Amino acid sequence: MSVLAVLGGQWGDEGKGKVIDWLAERADVVARYQGGANAGHTVVLNGKQYVLHLVPTGILHPNVRCIIGAGVVVDPLALVEEIQYLRAHGVEVGENLIVGKRTHLIMPYHKVLDAHMEDLLGVNRIGTTGRGIGPAYSDKAARLGVRVSDLLDEKILTERIRVSLALKRRILGGIGLSEEESRALDEGYNLEMCRKVREILAPHVCNTDAEIQGAVESGKRILLEGAQGVLLDLDMGTYPYVTSSNTGVGGALSGLGLPYGKLSAVVGVMKAYCTRVGQGPFPTEIHGEEGERLRSAGGEYGATTGRPRRCGWFDAVAARHCIQVTGLDGLVVTKLDILDGLKAIRVCVGYELEGRRLAAFPAETSTLERCEPVYEEFPGWLTSTAGARSWDALPPRARDYLAALERLTGKNIWLVSTGPGREDTIQVRDPFVALPGRES
Ligand code: IMP
Repeated sequence: MSVLAVLGGQWGDEGKGKVIDWLAERADVVARYQGGANAGHTVVLNGKQYVLHLVPTGILHPNVRCIIGAGVVVDPLALVEEIQYLRAHGVEVGENLIVGKRTHLIMPYHKVLDAHMEDLLGVNRIGTTGRGIGPAYSDKAARLGVRVSDLLDEKILTERIRVSLALKRRILGGIGLSEEESRALDEGYNLEMCRKVREILAPHVCNTDAEIQGAVESGKRILLEGAQGVLLDLDMGTYPYVTSSNTGVGGALSGLGLPYGKLSAVVGVMKAYCTRVGQGPFPTEIHGEEGERLRSAGGEYGATTGRPRRCGWFDAVAARHCIQVTGLDGLVVTKLDILDGLKAIRVCVGYELEGRRLAAFPAETSTLERCEPVYEEFPGWLTSTAGARSWDALPPRARDYLAALERLTGKNIWLVSTGPGREDTIQVRDPFVALPGRES
């Protein structure tokens, strides 16, 4: 098997970083296909914690080539900072990191727009990460974007920034801006920022679609690293409370220029419970002290913004939606150990609306907000699973819980994560072994 997509099957923060890092041990290439520095992928290696936002998680493996594809939006300052952070921690970042020429840049003015759009939305705000993601993707779609290739040509760069800024100034014209925000709307300031990062980023810039095709043709093992999760997908998520990219398989193919027939399998990463950051419906949310206990046991604070994550029970209805709309072949269940201390564990098995059972995950956010979860309850195992490395090492009730998740989602669990370290992993099925009928 050569091309394995690993994506989030909930609202992000499922632990994809740890899973990609574990799989990257046997991969040649790890490619990010969407999102930007809104992502926070946490990896613990030899007891040391690394938080990556833009650089693919494969960077911690010296022989892995890391690709930032066309579908990503890159904040050049954040990327330079991350490269420097990794180097300062002894991680090699050289020819092993490449950034696509087609990749769009997040400019300082995108962050100003992000903040003001949230202000204007008031109670309807999305609760974005404030990293300029939405405005950068908007510019891309409006054909007002600045791409990585533009960074290397001063004349084109100046023109692109000028065109893009003309409209921003009009949009933000009537709003009182701080001094810093006004600077972010200045052409010279944006150009200067680009000049500063150009020298550092230039050696990493290349045509990544050709690179991906070459890797596929030569039978390299490629991991496609998703950011956020399918419930935050621009089309299939809980719109408008979503991110601005396609987080599923569609985004992986278009964001990397990967022919669809080359995809060998898709793995969905799901936590043994659910979390969500930012606004938007969350049917299984646990409020009050019980939710607080789960948050504190799971260390559920945003890796990018530090915001406390909303916590809730595993939602099998939402999981089935993700499985259907993006085509997940197998699951990875993470953070099982966080449930160790619970006497009873609930899983949402259906939604009820005004006394009627719903057949599917609703498309209207307003409907989802009114849905009442129907729960099945499981007895807790009340013993530690932390660091368990084999299925047999799990207490019977934990195995029953996982079997219930398989029954309720209709998908097999391929890996279980029982702690943050690489070694805290149970392999039930090798994700790299080809599926019947798929290319190997
Ligand atoms: P944006 O991607 O910054 O525009 O934020 C849009 C929504 O996606 C907000 O609810 C964010 O909290 C959420 N979001 C963005 N990135 C992540 C992530 O990496 N993990 C979890 N939620 C995220």
